[in-house]
Amino acid sequence: MSLLALAVTGRGLCPPAAPVLRADDEALLRGRAAFETLRVYGGRPFRLEEHLDRLQASAQSIGLPPLGRDELAELAALVLPAAGSGDAVLRLVWTAGPAEGPPLGLALLGPIPGWIEEVRARGAKAVSLLGVRAAVPWLLPGVKSTSYAVNMAAEAEAHRRGADEAIFVDAEGIVLEGTVTNVWWRRGRTLFTPALELGILAGVTRAALLELAPGAGYEVEEGVYPLAALREADEAFTSSSVRELMPVVELDGRPLGRGPAADELQAALRALAAKV
Ligand SMILES: Cc1ncc(COP(=O)(O)O)c(C=O)c1O
Repeated sequence: MSLLALAVTGRGLCPPAAPVLRADDEALLRGRAAFETLRVYGGRPFRLEEHLDRLQASAQSIGLPPLGRDELAELAALVLPAAGSGDAVLRLVWTAGPAEGPPLGLALLGPIPGWIEEVRARGAKAVSLLGVRAAVPWLLPGVKSTSYAVNMAAEAEAHRRGADEAIFVDAEGIVLEGTVTNVWWRRGRTLFTPALELGILAGVTRAALLELAPGAGYEVEEGVYPLAALREADEAFTSSSVRELMPVVELDGRPLGRGPAADELQAALRALAAKV
């Protein structure tokens, strides 16, 4: 992502290309950092407090020095004016720092990637790939750490297979989540999404959709579902802060229906974001 603005703990606003990380920061050496990516709508971050809550929980799970929550909120406030009254991507990072400390906090503001609306318009192709069900604390269930090389490798494999995104299933074929998204599908008026007990990330967008679905006339079931349930759905979509709702029109080379729920809930999400 090309940066529009950058703010750093102890330094405030810095030129976007300024070097800010020490070479012995454990974030670099061992991936010991937590991060959040959120969408800025009309210059205002959507659900910043929820993202800070999750960042705090991630930092604790990884054993990082306690999160400077107020500091990070101040850094976010420093970079947000670069969005003007437009949309943008806000990234917050909290690193372990060098072994003797201190931790480092970063706020990065960048543009919304241009491909998102193109793919939303045509619908995404997805492939299912084997993923790990994080069933024990040391596999960091629900933690958003910067150790995302596996997720990025899965996304690259999806692209290699001619798809836009990958959906992880565990060794028993249970649907987990996307590489950077939560997964949803619809049968009739019921929406299904994997339960958080599967060790998946508690998406902030997922939570917003759980609130919005009843108002759009859908019931939601959270549970443990085999890939066949997704394959046989009337429609499917993924959710994330930056991509919002992305209709999935093909899974493992087989077409999936394109239905109304993804579009209706996308509109409801935008309406909610416009209100706050
Ligand atoms: C693995 C994973 N699952 C789900 C999500 C969606 O979370 P959110 O809606 O909070 O962006 C993300 C977001 O980056 C993610 O990395």
